[in-house]
Amino acid sequence: MRVAFVGKGGVGKSSLAGTFARVLARTGERVLALDSDPMPGLAFSLGVERVDHGLPDEAIQEYEEEGRRRYRLRDGLTGTGAVEQYAVRGPDGVHFLQLGKARGPRWNNTRQHFGFQRVLDDLPGAGWSIVGDLPGGTRQPFMTWGRYAETFLVVIEPTSASVLTGRRLAGLAATDEAPRVAAVANKVRAPDDVEQIARRTGLQVVGAVPFDPHLATADRLGVALLDHDPEGSTAVAVASMVDTLRSGLEPS
Ligand SMILES: Nc1ncnc2c1ncn2[C@@H]1O[C@H](COP(=O)(O)OP(=O)(O)OP(=O)(O)O)[C@@H](O)[C@H]1O
Ligand SMILES: [Mg+2]
Repeated sequence: MRVAFVGKGGVGKSSLAGTFARVLARTGERVLALDSDPMPGLAFSLGVERVDHGLPDEAIQEYEEEGRRRYRLRDGLTGTGAVEQYAVRGPDGVHFLQLGKARGPRWNNTRQHFGFQRVLDDLPGAGWSIVGDLPGGTRQPFMTWGRYAETFLVVIEPTSASVLTGRRLAGLAATDEAPRVAAVANKVRAPDDVEQIARRTGLQVVGAVPFDPHLATADRLGVALLDHDPEGSTAVAVASMVDTLRSGLEPS
């Protein structure tokens, strides 16, 4: 399974992606969790101790082409090799690789940025599931940074702005080549929230996670939701979403 969590900023992408990756790993799959957001998020919901775990400088080689500075993985290093060598092992055996933190006064992470892109060009294939956490927002990161995904999971909370973002992202499902796009309703409070999200976005809703105060507590404590409240409503809802996706979605 290859999924990427997308959606408006703050809707719960990282919280759900980390929980999802661990629940999926517990079913026996070998899971690579990819965080392409330079701001840390996924590491916390996974419960990985090293928060900003990107590719080290030595993995990325600088070269010049037509007078321009470019970056590639160092000679002999493949994307799959980079995952084997540099991804950290987190709880439930999930492998975790992050874009790497922006450093210095100008927040420059150009080197990591291109190195990470080269890893995306050559991700491990058979035998691996990939769960991606994308930065909030628009079409560009959606397509480029999540190009490995077979299914984009648009996380939508029951607010007008989030639903509108979901509807815009759903437009990507309109072409034949585009990957599958489905919705995850998050922070659900009212009985008709899920139905409203489905109706207003036109997307199939493959998961519905209730508003859960345990997430705020887990965030405050800096621990993964699955470790803080392993059998609570979010864990149950994410497990059900993993089941739905493992058993295959309805044809679009
Ligand atoms: N089901 C939920 N119930 C209550 N709070 C939630 C729920 N899901 C996420 N949150 C809270 O929403 C906030 C944002 O969550 P999170 O960081 O996962 O969002 P995000 O989409 O990854 O944000 P960003 O766009 O900044 O990366 C956090 O405080 C988190 O605890
Ligand atoms: Mg996030």
